[in-house]
Amino acid sequence: MSRVRVVYRCTDCGSATPKWAGRCLTCEAWNSLVEDLEGGAAPPARLSAGAPAMPIGEVDAHCSQPQPTGIPEIDRVLGGGLVAGSVTLLGGEPGIGKSTILLQLLAQWPTRTLYVSAEESAQQVRLRAERLGAVRPDLWLVPETSLPHILAAIDQVQPTLVVIDSIQSIADPDVASAPGSVVQVRGCAHRLVSEAKRRGVPVVLVGHVTKEGGLAGPRVLEHVVDTVLSFEGDRHHALRLLRAVKHRFGPTNELGVFEMTGDGLLGVPDASRLFLTDRRTGVPGSAVVPTLEGQRPLLVEVQALTNPVPPGAPPRRSAQGIDGGRLALLLAVLERRARLSLGNHEVFASAVGGVRLTEPGADLAVCLAVVSALADHPLPADVVVFGEVGLAGELRQAAHAPRRLAEAARMGFTRAIVPTNSPPDAHGISLTRVSTLTEALAAVGLAARGAR
Ligand code: TYD
Ligand code: MG
Repeated sequence: MSRVRVVYRCTDCGSATPKWAGRCLTCEAWNSLVEDLEGGAAPPARLSAGAPAMPIGEVDAHCSQPQPTGIPEIDRVLGGGLVAGSVTLLGGEPGIGKSTILLQLLAQWPTRTLYVSAEESAQQVRLRAERLGAVRPDLWLVPETSLPHILAAIDQVQPTLVVIDSIQSIADPDVASAPGSVVQVRGCAHRLVSEAKRRGVPVVLVGHVTKEGGLAGPRVLEHVVDTVLSFEGDRHHALRLLRAVKHRFGPTNELGVFEMTGDGLLGVPDASRLFLTDRRTGVPGSAVVPTLEGQRPLLVEVQALTNPVPPGAPPRRSAQGIDGGRLALLLAVLERRARLSLGNHEVFASAVGGVRLTEPGADLAVCLAVVSALADHPLPADVVVFGEVGLAGELRQAAHAPRRLAEAARMGFTRAIVPTNSPPDAHGISLTRVSTLTEALAAVGLAARGAR
């Protein structure tokens, strides 16, 4: 038998080292190493042991048909719904609305469900359920943190959907490790995965994510579960975005949009309208981009602000909803290729509404917003822009241009600045094709403004 040894495992990236250190050597996260055991008994089998081999054509594919959850925005992200026997991890920062959305999900489910509340008392959950209109005879509740008691409750209730809120708060008393430790989180998850498979019941685990973005503990779970969903948003905004980070049963690029209201989370089918509600036209430092999240086009306003700093003072760069590294790269391209002088300006850039822009198609909007702020000159109000910016200052095509243009037309925009070789399909929008950043600046009346 292999020898068990103690290792120190990073709760952010999951890598192990034999010696404790204040910082993970792999991902460089601080204070993320916790004690773990390695080389012990193999984790419990994920699939039923002793299953016979068979020709692939004889495997029943229909058992993995998703069952709709009754919440269209969740079904969109899951590609139809929850699959029987699957385990889904819902990650998100504390307070973002994980418990709320899952209570709503349980209440919509047509047959008996079980909510395992390991963080809040039964009374607290009941009060919240009343606000959400989720007090239903088929929704069962157990306030429990001990894994054997949870399994007993599943036996008693025989639910067709189980939610564990959260995986970090439950523990197996046979494992001498604190709740939330990697050993507990992984041990409990393995056990719940085999229960889900054995019973053919979907299980959803809640996992809190730290501010730094790591799934504290559950990062090590990503390969154990079938699906990892991430619930995001800025707590100061009502907007919440649901994405699939990993999904064994379908594509991972769909986006669900919700709004947090007094009555819980409401799906937002027309997200572009929500993002543009507070937009003021004619203001310098603003550009609208039809971005694409999965198959879903969204119009998002990018804003920028620039301020001169005294000579010698370090110019601050701050990005919200835009990757900080990407902003730095785009500013460098603007300096070098469009000959703008940004070294003595602090630059703030943000995607409005608590949204996070992750695709390069938004590059051009970031650049134009920055130059518009620097020149104190607004972009035309009826223009949208998109395109990836290359290091040579060239503009590159963004995927699914027709879909982006159709969404912009639907929202009343009449002109678009697009990379030269975008497809001809314009959806009633007048296209200005540009091949470089400099041409794009000229097309919106920003040429030479702010240039040194
Ligand atoms: P919660 O679901 O408890 O977050 P998590 O489980 O991710 O920690 O959501 C908590 C926040 O949501 C809290 O700040 C109150 C707010 N909220 C509403 O705005 N409306 C509601 O109907 C509910 C139930 C919560
Ligand atoms: Mg909660």
